[in-house]
Amino acid sequence: MEVKTSLLDNMIGVGDMVLLEPLNEDSFIMNLRNRFDHNEIYTYIGSVVISMNPYRSLPIYTPQKVEEYRNRNFYELSPHIYALADEAYRSLRDQDKDQCILITGESGAGKTEASKLVMSYVAAVCGKGQEVNKVKEQLLQSNPVLEAFGNAKTMRNDNSSRFGKYMDIEFDFKGDPLGGVISNYLLEKSRVCKQPRGERNFHIFYQLLSGASDDTLMKLKLDRDFSKYNYLSLDSANVNGLDDAASFRTVRNAMQIVGFMEAEVQSVLELVAAVLKLGNIEFKPESRVNGFDESRVKDKNDLKEMCELLGIEQSVLERAFSYRTVEAKMEKMSTTLNVAQAYYARDALAKNLYSRLFSWLVTRINESIKAQAKTRHKVMGVLDIYGFEIFEDNSFEQFIINYCNEKLQQIFIELTLREEQEEYIREDIEWTNIEYFNNAVICDLIENNQNGILAMLDEECLRPGTVTDDTFLDKLNTICAEHQHFESRLNKNSKFLTDHSLPHSCFRIQHYAGKVLYRVEGFVDKNNDLLYRDLSQAMYKATHSLMRQLFPEGNPAKVNLKRPPTAGFQFKASVGVLMKNLQTKNPNYIRCIKPNDKKVAHIFTDSLVCHQVRYLGLVENVRVRRAGYAFRQPYESCLERYKMLCKKTWPHWRGPARDGVEVLLTDCSVPTEEFAYGRSKIFIRNPRTLFTLEERRRACLEDLATLIQKIYRGWKSRTHFLLLKKSQVVVAAWYRRYAQQNKYQKIKSATLVMQSFIRGWKARNILRQLKYEKRCKEAVTTIAAYWHGTQVRREYRKFFRANAGKKIYDFTIQRIMQKYFLGLKTTTMSPMDNSWPAKPYGFLEGAHTQLRRIFHLWRCKKYRGQFTEEKKAVYEEKLEASEIFKDKKALYPSSVSQPFKGDYLEIQKNPKYQKLNSAMEEKVLLADLVNKINRANGKGSPRLFLLTKSNFVLADQKTGQVKASVPLPDLASVSVSTQSDGFFALKLKEGSASASKGDFLLSSEHLIEIITKLHRIGTTAADRDQINIDISDEFLVQFKQDKVCVKFIQGGPKNGNSAACKRKNNRLLEVSVPSP
Ligand SMILES: Nc1ncnc2c1ncn2[C@@H]1O[C@H](COP(=O)(O)OP(=O)(O)OP(=O)(O)O)[C@@H](O)[C@H]1O
Ligand SMILES: [Mg+2]
Repeated sequence: MEVKTSLLDNMIGVGDMVLLEPLNEDSFIMNLRNRFDHNEIYTYIGSVVISMNPYRSLPIYTPQKVEEYRNRNFYELSPHIYALADEAYRSLRDQDKDQCILITGESGAGKTEASKLVMSYVAAVCGKGQEVNKVKEQLLQSNPVLEAFGNAKTMRNDNSSRFGKYMDIEFDFKGDPLGGVISNYLLEKSRVCKQPRGERNFHIFYQLLSGASDDTLMKLKLDRDFSKYNYLSLDSANVNGLDDAASFRTVRNAMQIVGFMEAEVQSVLELVAAVLKLGNIEFKPESRVNGFDESRVKDKNDLKEMCELLGIEQSVLERAFSYRTVEAKMEKMSTTLNVAQAYYARDALAKNLYSRLFSWLVTRINESIKAQAKTRHKVMGVLDIYGFEIFEDNSFEQFIINYCNEKLQQIFIELTLREEQEEYIREDIEWTNIEYFNNAVICDLIENNQNGILAMLDEECLRPGTVTDDTFLDKLNTICAEHQHFESRLNKNSKFLTDHSLPHSCFRIQHYAGKVLYRVEGFVDKNNDLLYRDLSQAMYKATHSLMRQLFPEGNPAKVNLKRPPTAGFQFKASVGVLMKNLQTKNPNYIRCIKPNDKKVAHIFTDSLVCHQVRYLGLVENVRVRRAGYAFRQPYESCLERYKMLCKKTWPHWRGPARDGVEVLLTDCSVPTEEFAYGRSKIFIRNPRTLFTLEERRRACLEDLATLIQKIYRGWKSRTHFLLLKKSQVVVAAWYRRYAQQNKYQKIKSATLVMQSFIRGWKARNILRQLKYEKRCKEAVTTIAAYWHGTQVRREYRKFFRANAGKKIYDFTIQRIMQKYFLGLKTTTMSPMDNSWPAKPYGFLEGAHTQLRRIFHLWRCKKYRGQFTEEKKAVYEEKLEASEIFKDKKALYPSSVSQPFKGDYLEIQKNPKYQKLNSAMEEKVLLADLVNKINRANGKGSPRLFLLTKSNFVLADQKTGQVKASVPLPDLASVSVSTQSDGFFALKLKEGSASASKGDFLLSSEHLIEIITKLHRIGTTAADRDQINIDISDEFLVQFKQDKVCVKFIQGGPKNGNSAACKRKNNRLLEVSVPSP
């Protein structure tokens, strides 16, 4: 997207009419047309925006556009309504100036659309947040509601606003919207009952009938068919591009957002339905005795339905359509209504009902959008009021509307001129007055309190006696005759007497926007806006609460005999308030122009546009703007824009901007009368001067662009070249390094090869040399030794005796042996020591081994010689144990290191066994705790086992009582297993005295010692046989009568690592021994 930096850049035509050269009506319109043809619908006159209706949607209202115009200076970008909205919003927010946006133009020129664009722009740029967004949404959604009830399709505009609207949007100090207030002006209520050909009633009627659900319609007693309703014109019921049903949904949704309750919406729709029903009530004449006709309701069905809908008593309303109560001087009189009067009453009721409903809607919306906070607000007012109207047949409404437009034009003239003047004074520039048409005189003609048209109309309405539209016209003719803007056939001014374009029942006013012919018919009635009191009272009696609210004057308790203010009076007052309000605010103008009458895009009708340009006084506006100086600009921006035109100011001007501009303009030889220096701005008298400057700037920019391009290209190429060069150096350096590294590696490895070959060759040479030298040395030594030997032997031979050789030999042998024996001295005397020096000489081989054996035997003997008697006995026992068990029983090796203590119970010292000890007749050789195996279950019970020279005793462990005492001669044999268990069986000789009890199966930790001692007693006693010791894993034991086999098996016993005995059956006891 092309970004413009100034209004003056790339402009189609001129964006600001102030710069138009030459300035006349034709060039003005040409410029508008030119821009319109290029889709540029906005053009400025200074700060005024001219908006042409494009009659199609243009892509210029996107969020991107909003962003583009946000916080930009007014003249910075091409003309746009957003620029004006932004300017207004920013000066409201930042400079605390209340703003008003005045949108004018004729019907269909785009005022309502423009007002919506302004509102949506402000909504888009102002603050955000949940609360703020809700306020924004409510403000924006008030539009569809008011448009549905206040807009209608007319010949000029398919969505023509039939009321004036002024909306104050209130902001807080940050510029966030707080709420708003809407004022409405004069709804065109005559439309409710009658619409000109080709036009429609207000949108809401069609929307309701097309969009409401069947259920709703049934409740409202309505029919979807438009043709059933008298008040709805049929010829243009359906409008192209309007979807009434969809609009109805939009309106309902909008009402909900704005804050209408469901019941309120329902009430509103009921009143709309009531208006339609009212239109269908028809009357017929009924002759009375007094000769007058009296009206009667023709078909009561619609009346009934309407009364049901609103909760009105049918008879009351029916009577109100036939009679009228007149009160005069405290007297009440009832007069009958004829059919015409009944229709008048009906229509008056419908119009009043609808217009009051519309005002109620505005009040209700205001309640919702009212700002909550009580703090001071900043205000932005948006005025979208009906445009100037010239119809073929103009009545009271057009008169009022055009009066309003006159007032707006007045305020426009006043404010623009004042602003212009103020600027000159502010800037200290001399001001020359400019002639322009001031329409104050027309406003005076209409609103003057003494002889203004409105005042006279009111006078007529209030005057007693017969008052008609004609009497009003007569009055005008007499009083306004002299006025230069008033024209009438019956005027005293004879020049209109023959003017056939001016009918007798009309008067003509020369408005600022053209002459308008008004037909006086209906002026009095419309101004009176009379509604018979019987009708308002009937309405007040309704049970429908909204209806009662709308007709408060119907309350019989508050009968007010004073006439209500006339419509004209009310309107004048409200316009007066509006004008005062606008004058306190900073005005921003949008002048809407309609390009053609056909409501189509792309057509630009010169005559139509010319007419609007003329009556809007746009060319004059430009002239006023240019009266002194066509163009003005702050010094800073001027200098910034044109500084390239002068060498002194380019590229930087260091001094004050004003001096810079002075230097610049002098340097450019701009004639001095062409500009003036204000306080902060430079004023340029002629647009041509500005264009010359612009032209020179453009040329200069081209040169500058070329220069910049040149320098940039040079810089770019140079940088590129330098980069390439730098890269090349780096690449070359790396490559060289790489190549040199490779070369070096090759040379290095070649050198190494050569070096190793040479070193090898050298080493081999040296080795060869050394070997040779060594051999030489050896040979020399050998030769020398032999030679010496020979020499010595030769020398000594003569001194040797015959046996000297033997002696020397013996001596040598003796010395050798001596040395050998001395060497043996190092061996210790321990029998355990196995060490023995190595044999030193081969010839001592046999002697060396023998000597070792003899020495060992000798030192054993020596060792034994040191033993005492007890120790000897102990060793003898150990020896015996070894003879019995070594390599036979696995338990044996563990017993070798344990000394045989004999008395493990310390029976002599222990007082516990004193009794037992004394019972023993001989010396106790062994006392120990054993387990006696129970023959029944294989379990052991502890017993004391005592052994003496002649018997062994088993005693109770606790009591010490002797259980069995067996003389050793009765013991036949002892059986033990080959394994590491401590079980042993003491078998008794058959037939001996002790044998009756059976053999003993015992187990002991000291099995080896017990058996050894038993065996030893057997060997030492001369009177007895030796005890047999039977070592096998299966043996028989005699228990009383039975013989039981005791069998030892290897395996993991359940209870720990000791052997366990278990009785398997009658004949088998099984002992499982843990595997080693
Ligand atoms: N900026 C725009 N872009 C596109 N279409 C537009 C624009 N302005 C106006 N129109 C079209 O012109 C029609 C008439 O515009 P609008 O209702 O704003 O006229 P108005 O000046 O308010 O007339 P009235 O005085 O009858 O209310 C719109 O319905 C729309 O179709
Ligand atoms: Mg409008």
